[in-house]
Amino acid sequence: MPSSFQDLLIDSPAPHILRLTLNRPEARNALRVQLLAELAEALRQAEADDQMRCVVVTGGPKIFAAGADVREMADVATAAAVSEQRQASWRTVHDFSKPLVAAVNGYCLGGGNELAMLCDVIVAGDDAQFGQPEIKLGMIPGAGGTQRLTAALGKAKAMKFVLSGEFFGAAEALATGLVSEVVAADKVQARALELAGLIAAKSPLALRLAKEAVRHASEAKLAEGMLLERQAFNVLLTSDDRREGLAAFLEKRTPNFKGR
Ligand code: CAA
Repeated sequence: MPSSFQDLLIDSPAPHILRLTLNRPEARNALRVQLLAELAEALRQAEADDQMRCVVVTGGPKIFAAGADVREMADVATAAAVSEQRQASWRTVHDFSKPLVAAVNGYCLGGGNELAMLCDVIVAGDDAQFGQPEIKLGMIPGAGGTQRLTAALGKAKAMKFVLSGEFFGAAEALATGLVSEVVAADKVQARALELAGLIAAKSPLALRLAKEAVRHASEAKLAEGMLLERQAFNVLLTSDDRREGLAAFLEKRTPNFKGR
């Protein structure tokens, strides 16, 4: 892997396992365009590398990711371009054919939760906090959150979280089936690597087809919903409320939404 990655730490802690660590602690690992592009590039390289059989995605032991970068999104002039670049990277994550294990400590919000939900297995710490807080910014999830959260939690819970922006903890994430398992916060990284090791020892061909088959079961009807979500997200890109929500967050005040 090239050393030109800035927002991502890349290592191989065990044979056949690649670990990608989101590394923007000063911004709570917010997924700016560059970070997502680096993630996509690392996955493209892992896809082509026969030595790599399983990828662990983590934000390290304190936080997974606080979602898209609010500062980057607040620039109205570049909003559409930023959104398009982000979509291209999300597509690469979605299309990655090898198993992805998410190791989640702390906040896993917005685009961060969407990233975790794109992973095939999620190991969460008992300190994890999940949520889709976009609504608090006058926005909605833009990388499959409305669809995948609903598929995982069911309509009633997904509506509560998508409409209120309220966070929920690891116990609820486990009970509702959002995550694969919950362990003590300080065991997350080790358990994720252990699972990745179990996976990486299997036939790469069987893994690829197993992933494809299980994904089909959960995502066959997703394409239509994703299109609807994208259209709704684009409508909100230029709204006054979105501008107000982003500005209010950065100015640390309560937003004054007008419905425009
Ligand atoms: N983007 C950019 N910067 C962020 C950020 C984000 N998503 N989340 C936190 N930061 C920054 C803060 O602005 C702050 O910077 P300064 O020190 O320069 O003021 C720093 O990280 C620390 O943040 P807090 O002081 O708020 O830290 P905290 O520990 O008290 O709270 C938090 C952590 C709960 C994650 C809180 O920061 C928060 O609510 N963040 C925003 C979460 C959010 O709304 N995410 C959704 C983004 S939209 C999205 O994801 C949709 C999409 O895909 C398009």
